[in-house]
Amino acid sequence: MARPMTETILGIETSCDETAAAVVIGGRDIRSNIIATQIDLHAEFGGVVPEIAGRAHEQHITATVAAALDEARVSAAEIDAVAATVGPGLIGSLLVGVSAAKALALVWDVPFIGVNHLEAHFEAALLEDPTLDPPLLIILVSGGHTMLVAMDATRRFQLLGRTLDDAAGEAFDKVARYLELDFPGGPVIDRLAKSGDPTAVKFPRPMLRDGLDFSFSGVKTSVINHVRANPDYDVNDIAASFQAAVVDVLVTKARRAADQIGANGICLAGGVAANSALRAAVTEAGAADGRRVLLPRLDLCTDNAAMVAASGWWRLRSSGPDKLDAGADPRLKVNFVDDLGL
Ligand code: KG4
Ligand code: ZN
Repeated sequence: MARPMTETILGIETSCDETAAAVVIGGRDIRSNIIATQIDLHAEFGGVVPEIAGRAHEQHITATVAAALDEARVSAAEIDAVAATVGPGLIGSLLVGVSAAKALALVWDVPFIGVNHLEAHFEAALLEDPTLDPPLLIILVSGGHTMLVAMDATRRFQLLGRTLDDAAGEAFDKVARYLELDFPGGPVIDRLAKSGDPTAVKFPRPMLRDGLDFSFSGVKTSVINHVRANPDYDVNDIAASFQAAVVDVLVTKARRAADQIGANGICLAGGVAANSALRAAVTEAGAADGRRVLLPRLDLCTDNAAMVAASGWWRLRSSGPDKLDAGADPRLKVNFVDDLGL
């Protein structure tokens, strides 16, 4: 018998530096989405410190889950399943969320679902508009990953392109660090770029004409070289010119990939999906190519648990619950299909 479409899922996300819990009904109806961020704890170190992250997750997990249930106005008895990110991520951080989710599933006698963090990011754009017909082209751009991914109607994924070195978010963070800006660097560069000239410095667009893979480490090095050679640089112009180079390559290749698979729409996923220039460029490309564009709401771009609950709902339907002895895997891969036949 088909499952009812209305399971109420508690999602938990602790893969990096956000302790998050959310209640989502039927894979799309977000009843709560609580995020306890640790950004201030890590800012002085210029990056996420794994030991500090794990300890902070332990301190915040109980209150965050309680707040998610409270805001959603659901009792424990109304939760049909508990989903948690099992990887990829920092092992000490992942284990806090996974252990909490398993303990709750055991006590409440409901299924536990282990969710892949990247698949959860893919789901975030669709949370707001599940009406869009696949195939879809997903641009996943986060601190750890940059991928072009095809998705079909049953949530199967094919990897079309990926970064060969730095992830897009990593490049933003490293450039910001070099410019002595705050951590995380992406939002700061985005803000400064608004007052800068994106054509001021023509940074390289690596591999623009070849294939669907990316390389961002060269752009970062060019920024560093330029700044060293021009000590009186204008930080707004540098931010805008660097951002323009990254966005140009991402969007050019995404359009190529979307054409290749005959995509009905383009979705943005991951923390860098919050970038205003990227959102504008993808929107413009969609309009030019006659393709719909799905941009996740800002609070659904960066790490959150609503996307984990939604992805868990799909996983529960497609492959059922996971065993309570399943562990966390810091290097968990997406279960990509070799060829979706698109
Ligand atoms: O997906 P996410 O929250 O964490 C993971 O990496 O899983 O992504 C974080 C990344 C960081 O590199 C951050 O600098 C970047 O997303 N980011 C941005 C913006 N907001 C966050 N990058 C560019 N522009 C933004 N507005
Ligand atoms: Zn993420």
